[in-house]
Amino acid sequence: MNEQSTLDWFLSRRSTREFSDRPVERETIERLLMAATSAPSASNRQPWQFAVVRSRSLRAAIAQAVRERADDMKAVIARGHHAEDFGSYGDFFHEPLISAAVIIVPQYREFPDLIANLLASGGADPSAYHTAGAMQAELCSTSAAVMNLLLQAHASGLGGCWMAGPMIARDRICALLGIAAPWQMVGAIALGYPAGPAPEQKPRKPLGRVARWFEDEHTDEDTN
Ligand SMILES: Cc1cc2nc3c(=O)[nH]c(=O)nc-3n(C[C@H](O)[C@H](O)[C@H](O)COP(=O)(O)O)c2cc1C
Repeated sequence: MNEQSTLDWFLSRRSTREFSDRPVERETIERLLMAATSAPSASNRQPWQFAVVRSRSLRAAIAQAVRERADDMKAVIARGHHAEDFGSYGDFFHEPLISAAVIIVPQYREFPDLIANLLASGGADPSAYHTAGAMQAELCSTSAAVMNLLLQAHASGLGGCWMAGPMIARDRICALLGIAAPWQMVGAIALGYPAGPAPEQKPRKPLGRVARWFEDEHTDEDTN
């Protein structure tokens, strides 16, 4: 892939929420996991693991757990004055899970912050130094792995949706999948072959709003 076609390919990725019945082969999923685990990680600790749920009954149990929790939340919110603000938002918590052929639940674990401990041993307050813990380095590393997985899924013709929604049923999902401390769930990824055409592209903020540049007047000439 050249520079432009790589960018075009990034731009063609979408979050997919409806999947066909076509199963996803184990070898394909293994390639997604290889892409995920090739991600950079703080001190190369690779602080991630992945529950790969292909079992039909477990997938249904996960989707049901999230749906029930969303219904609970809806009922609570309906007691206040903002029921309409929730609207159909609750559907986003579980909708992609319903037809997913595979659900992957990524997890991360924290490690002791070695440098912080060294600073403490020298008598300093480590929090004054903002070491790796200050940026949740393990969570960031695992997020990078998830993004790699989604991009490999796109390359494999699969659709995917990384979802925060299932966190509302975190305790039940962790019990179903045997996820326990020190591991922490990082949402869930619904995967499968798309049921229909790619969804519309969601608008992005223009670069002018998200990037601040710091450069010398002649930076382009210097680098060319
Ligand atoms: C951390 C994270 C959590 C998300 N949670 C959900 C979710 O719970 N349900 C859902 O339908 N989509 C979820 N999404 C997908 C976003 O809605 C989607 O990425 C965004 O609208 C942009 O669309 P695109 O991915 O097609 O470009 C999530 C995405 C991320 C990165």
